[in-house]
Amino acid sequence: MNQQLVDPAVAPTHDEIMGFHRKFITGVTIVTASDADGRPRGLALNAFSSVTVSPAMVLVCVNKTSSTHDVLFSSQTFAVNLLANDQLHVAKRFASKSDDKFSGLGWHTSEYGSPIIDGTCAHLEAEISMRVRTSTHTVFFGRVLTAQSIETPPLIYFGARFFDSEDLTELS
Ligand SMILES: Cc1cc2nc3c(=O)[nH]c(=O)nc-3n(C[C@H](O)[C@H](O)[C@H](O)COP(=O)(O)O)c2cc1C
Repeated sequence: MNQQLVDPAVAPTHDEIMGFHRKFITGVTIVTASDADGRPRGLALNAFSSVTVSPAMVLVCVNKTSSTHDVLFSSQTFAVNLLANDQLHVAKRFASKSDDKFSGLGWHTSEYGSPIIDGTCAHLEAEISMRVRTSTHTVFFGRVLTAQSIETPPLIYFGARFFDSEDLTELS
């Protein structure tokens, strides 16, 4: 028989949970999709993961309160734009609630219909294969359709701060 291990009386506090998450270093992505009128939409997101490499599958977790959420939910595809180390301004813009986050930004629509942002260090596009609703977020699984990367180093997000990945010390 399955016994629930979660006991609210001894569950970790919000601070304890966030203490864990703040130690997890990630890149910063802008997840984008086109709305029904073909307008580009997107949000800054670090809840990205590779699921499998072969077949190539990724996932992103999007808060239901995000204005991009419903656009993604209705979309067949999404793009994951991985920010370069000189794109902090793009991260901040897409972490906002601005109405037109793409204004003045270089971008184009891919052959599969997703907005691709200029100047990133890598981007991929995926066909949504599964939408899993949790209490606060939807997890979108996608089969990778295209993937491209260049030598430019990525922007790093760690402990709620941004860093330049060119300043890393390699351990041996
Ligand atoms: C570094 C960083 C990572 C973020 N990661 C996520 C995430 O994984 N999922 C999410 O839903 N929001 C995430 N956010 C918050 C959204 O970007 C933010 O709520 C944004 O305003 C949503 O915009 P929208 O409502 O226009 O879609 C992140 C923000 C930052 C700065």
